[in-house]
Amino acid sequence: MSKKRTLTGYRPTGKLHLGHWFGNLQNMLRMQHEYDAYYFIADFHALTSDWADPSGIGTFTEEMVLDWCAAGLDPEICTIYRQSDVPEVAELMLYFAMVLPMPWLERTPSYKEQRAQVTTKDLGNVGFFLYPALQAADIAIVLADAVPVGEDQLPHLELTREIVRRFNNTYGSFLVEPQAIIATEGARVPGTDGRKMSKSYGNAIFISDGEDEIRTKVMSFMTDPARKLKTDPGDPDICPLHHVHKLIAPADEIAEWDRCCRVAECGCVAHKRKLADDLVEYLAPFRERRAEIAAIPGFASEVLAGGAAKAKPITSGVVATCRELIGIDPRTSLTAGIGPARRDAVVEESHPSFLDSEA
Ligand code: ADP
Ligand code: TRP
Repeated sequence: MSKKRTLTGYRPTGKLHLGHWFGNLQNMLRMQHEYDAYYFIADFHALTSDWADPSGIGTFTEEMVLDWCAAGLDPEICTIYRQSDVPEVAELMLYFAMVLPMPWLERTPSYKEQRAQVTTKDLGNVGFFLYPALQAADIAIVLADAVPVGEDQLPHLELTREIVRRFNNTYGSFLVEPQAIIATEGARVPGTDGRKMSKSYGNAIFISDGEDEIRTKVMSFMTDPARKLKTDPGDPDICPLHHVHKLIAPADEIAEWDRCCRVAECGCVAHKRKLADDLVEYLAPFRERRAEIAAIPGFASEVLAGGAAKAKPITSGVVATCRELIGIDPRTSLTAGIGPARRDAVVEESHPSFLDSEA
């Protein structure tokens, strides 16, 4: 029996951090063995927000390949590629843009949040508006069954399923409705300030950070805000420091930190020192592997070239099938039976929102 397919992507806007590591990478590592796995660097997606200053995208793309491979992704086992090396995805996004009602994009929570929160970049461009449509195309273009992501991506996955359904209803069932795969423990890893760890918030501990950086960052980690003094009892359930420590330390040690915090026996500073020690040790093998592969000339570009060559036949095939189903080229059209009459019925029966202009 052939393996199911998985796909996920990261934007090359910064280095790999602990949020990626526990929120997503552990699943990606496991799934590269169980699935036919496609992992790509979403440079078009980075461009949707960094269009005015795209200077970091190329470097971060290569850095991400090194980080991924040092973390244990094996380019002999999974396919690692760069989104812009398979521009077919842009064509599929265009077809999605045809069937996709504007309100579906306007309602996307990430879109609304980022437009409201991000003040340092101009996100009023159409490219950023189309971000989730491009993500849907990334997933559909390899007909992925399973998509490992952090919790924040669930609305994008739901939207992808809706777009795929609508495309299938309109042109003929062919694209796959993907399932999201979420990490149990690390679905939302907090950063040093308690918000979701993210490169854009300046609260991230990078996997490639050296010992000094790790220690400085961990010492600034937020703890239970109500616990001002060591003599105040704390609540580990709302403490970001506890949350992160739980991801790397044995259960009995965590149970002890939990207990002594609740009864104000141990202090946050001691706990921070312990987390820093544990993290330095936990990340040491990664840093060594990272340095080894970074010393191999052309490592990242070779991985990316190999990955593009493996992805290409699939992405070209999917786009060719879409063209045939839509019937763009009358010589190859398969759509005799699913032409305009069927499309009209779909619009009227199941998608009246297509016609309304609710903003
Ligand atoms: P960032 O938010 O740092 O820009 P990306 O958007 O590139 O990171 O995220 C890549 C993947 O890692 C996505 O699946 C995302 O959900 C996941 N991820 C990122 N940050 C976290 C986090 N703090 N906790 C859990 N998962 C995360
Ligand atoms: N939107 C994702 C993020 O911000 C990145 C991404 C782009 C992605 N295309 C994807 C994730 C396809 C999974 C599948 O992290």
